[in-house]
Amino acid sequence: MGERYYTLSEGCPYASNSTSVQVRNRSGGGLALLQDTQLIETLAHFSRERIPERVVHAKAAGAYGEFEATDDCSDITSASFLNKAGKETPVLLRVSTVGPETGSADTARDVHGWAMKLYTDEGNLDWVFNNTPVFFIRDPIKFPSLNRSHKRHPRTHLPDPNMFWDFHVGNPEGIHELLHLFSDRGTPRSLREMNAYSGHTYKFTKEDGSFKYVKIHIRTALGAKNMTREESIKVAGENPDFYIQDLFEAIEKGNYPVWNVYVQVMDPAEAEKYRWNIFDMTKIWSHKDFPLRQIGTLTMNRNPQNYFADIEQAAFSPSTMVPGIAASADPVLQARLFAYPDAARYRLGVNYQQLPTNAAKAPVYCPFQRDGKMRYDNNYGSDPNYVGSSLKPTKFYQEVKTSGTKRLSLLTEHEKWIGEVVTFQTHIADDDFVQPAALWDVIGRDPGHQERTIGNIAVHLKGVQSVQLRNEVYALFRKVNTKLGEDLRKATEAALVSS
Ligand code: HEM
Repeated sequence: MGERYYTLSEGCPYASNSTSVQVRNRSGGGLALLQDTQLIETLAHFSRERIPERVVHAKAAGAYGEFEATDDCSDITSASFLNKAGKETPVLLRVSTVGPETGSADTARDVHGWAMKLYTDEGNLDWVFNNTPVFFIRDPIKFPSLNRSHKRHPRTHLPDPNMFWDFHVGNPEGIHELLHLFSDRGTPRSLREMNAYSGHTYKFTKEDGSFKYVKIHIRTALGAKNMTREESIKVAGENPDFYIQDLFEAIEKGNYPVWNVYVQVMDPAEAEKYRWNIFDMTKIWSHKDFPLRQIGTLTMNRNPQNYFADIEQAAFSPSTMVPGIAASADPVLQARLFAYPDAARYRLGVNYQQLPTNAAKAPVYCPFQRDGKMRYDNNYGSDPNYVGSSLKPTKFYQEVKTSGTKRLSLLTEHEKWIGEVVTFQTHIADDDFVQPAALWDVIGRDPGHQERTIGNIAVHLKGVQSVQLRNEVYALFRKVNTKLGEDLRKATEAALVSS
């Protein structure tokens, strides 16, 4: 290879960075020419640099690393990455805020997203989690309204506490998540000191068709730590990219963050008797009832080489799964299985799985998915483009890999139970306030934390103009704990007077 020189995107040498081709007139002025491909291409590409940002979870940090299995979990799942202690699987991680746009401050109070791609030897597995174990809704149809109420008002283009609280008063099942959000957990000290949770119930499955229900927990080895409101506001002003910088610099210095990964495991028969609906994402499973079992550790040890290629073009979806893991009947999870690939096709294009950051490291052979915009492999050449062709005989996974155990019918009695449980509950019951009340007591064990949580809600709530709506918010928190509702009223009124 000779010496490197600049070219245009199709190889034509790039003449210079200082002169567009012009016809000079006598008075020294110049006329730009259409023949100046260099100028046209340079401007045209610049105008097209942006792709749509994610409609939620736009601002994020990302890194690569390893998941290491700490146990042989073949008693509960056939997933190969979990079937040998010490087995390592490469990982891509993207940690985000939810509502604010890509230029926003990292430490803005918000739920934080945790999207992880495990490049396993049986294909990619995406874990698309949050830093809270519950969620605001249990019916997926509410998701767009939830997010719009947290984002900008259509007229003022400002975040709007009136919309925010109006939504939550009308959808009180989110009270458990609201308490998490307005507690110190809404402002983690760093991404390295943050936990993450599947929230949803998933299934760990075995080749014989049997399965366990699981919830996945990812806990930082540093211990979860948070900022106060005052600290988070100060950091947001001084360094809006604080989390990104902290994670990047820690990894550059070799100070690799580590998390321990656990599952809570529940038998289907136990699910039928459990006090809580396991498909309702506003509820947790008590650790006393279902203790944590460690399955692995996660170490992030490599920064992206290029943020856009590695992180912005990454596409995560709960539907990206491997044998041994399956979705439960949680309706929010079921909706998500559709929403993410749909979003990726819009945001990145139909062949987004071919982008290097999304491509599986395990062998991929799907010649029945052909063509489409921006295809850039050899498109399976002349291979048959339909499944089961005798022209190029190809086996199915069960024939090659599994022990061939006969699968049990999935239409068991348990499936009938699921059918009955997942008739959806818009109805709010007293039970919906039991776990939030317990969380409020847990917050109370940390000196000053209840007062800080009330203060965090009050400074947000004071932006609500309607006295009636404010009263409805106090009433909502009173249902968790009478004193909490009353203290919130006092704190909000004091904040209104002093503002
Ligand atoms: C009905 C409920 C939900 C819907 C329809 C939904 C939809 C979406 C969409 C469309 C995106 C943007 C994807 C992209 O452009 O690549 C997204 C991102 C994300 N969502 Fe959800 N979501 C839902 C609930 C949840 C829940 C319950 C969690 C956590 C347990 C969650 C975690 C995330 C994360 C972490 C991301 C960022 C992914 C990334 O880093 O690329 N979402 N969601």
